[in-house]
Amino acid sequence: MISCRNDIIRNTNLQLRNAYIRNFFISNIFLYINFLAVIHGFEDVKGIKEDIYFEIVEPETLHYTFKVRPAQDFGVPFNDSLQNVGLVVAEPSHGCSAPINKLELRNNIALIDRGGCSFLSKCIQAERSGVLAVIICDNDISNDDQYIDMIDDSTKRNCSIPAVFLLGKDGYMIKKSLKTHNLTRAIINIPINMTYMPQQKQKPPPWVLW
Ligand SMILES: *[C@@H]1O[C@H](CO)[C@@H](O)[C@H](O)[C@H]1NC(C)=O
Ligand SMILES: *[C@@H]1O[C@H](CO)[C@@H](O)[C@H](O)[C@H]1NC(C)=O
Ligand SMILES: *[C@@H]1O[C@H](CO)[C@@H](O)[C@H](O)[C@H]1NC(C)=O
Ligand SMILES: *[C@@H]1O[C@H](CO)[C@@H](O)[C@H](O)[C@H]1NC(C)=O
Repeated sequence: MISCRNDIIRNTNLQLRNAYIRNFFISNIFLYINFLAVIHGFEDVKGIKEDIYFEIVEPETLHYTFKVRPAQDFGVPFNDSLQNVGLVVAEPSHGCSAPINKLELRNNIALIDRGGCSFLSKCIQAERSGVLAVIICDNDISNDDQYIDMIDDSTKRNCSIPAVFLLGKDGYMIKKSLKTHNLTRAIINIPINMTYMPQQKQKPPPWVLW
């Protein structure tokens, strides 16, 4: 994982995580533990915030379950699941300045691109616009497997809404589909409890593997 000028990432756990994935295939003894780790996200085992999931209800073409990673040291957790809430693409998409579609964003969830300013600045800007939570997608639209641990920007500020990281490929596909259907928003449920969800009800998007 490469550090980016405009935001701050932490990659210390990447090699550990990769080794962990390899172990999944070679170790029988720890298979059950690994199984739990996969369900809860590796972070649970490593003592970092665990990955969560959301599902898109509408449009039908995006009816999949998406994995996102909460910011590691800013923002707040989701207490309750937000049901049938709008997911609205911020304009401008980097979310570093006051959005021009503030009215549409209010009381919905903002989809924001990585880059241009810190992750934390994006979260603060969204909170000011009355947004309920932010989903920040990687600006590398080919990224279909590298989750970034978003950390604060050393400005001693914080953000009082949840902020999560989404793969660039997922963000790209969501925006592309909304554009195709002339939609200004998707309808989502976030987070959803995957722990006891039967396998056949989990619908990872066909373009990613997790
Ligand atoms: C921001 O607030 C959250 C929730 O209160 C807390 O866990 C986190 O440590 C705070 N982060 C910073 C950088 O102060
Ligand atoms: C969750 O509850 C805490 C404590 O009551 C609160 O500070 C936080 O803002 C809540 N989070 C959301 C997303 O409402
Ligand atoms: C979306 O809007 C454009 C013009 O704004 C139109 O040409 C196109 O047919 C519309 N697509 C759908 C799926 O409604
Ligand atoms: C998921 O659902 C199960 C069973 O209803 C519950 O025990 C568990 O605490 C839930 N997990 C979360 C993260 O809400």
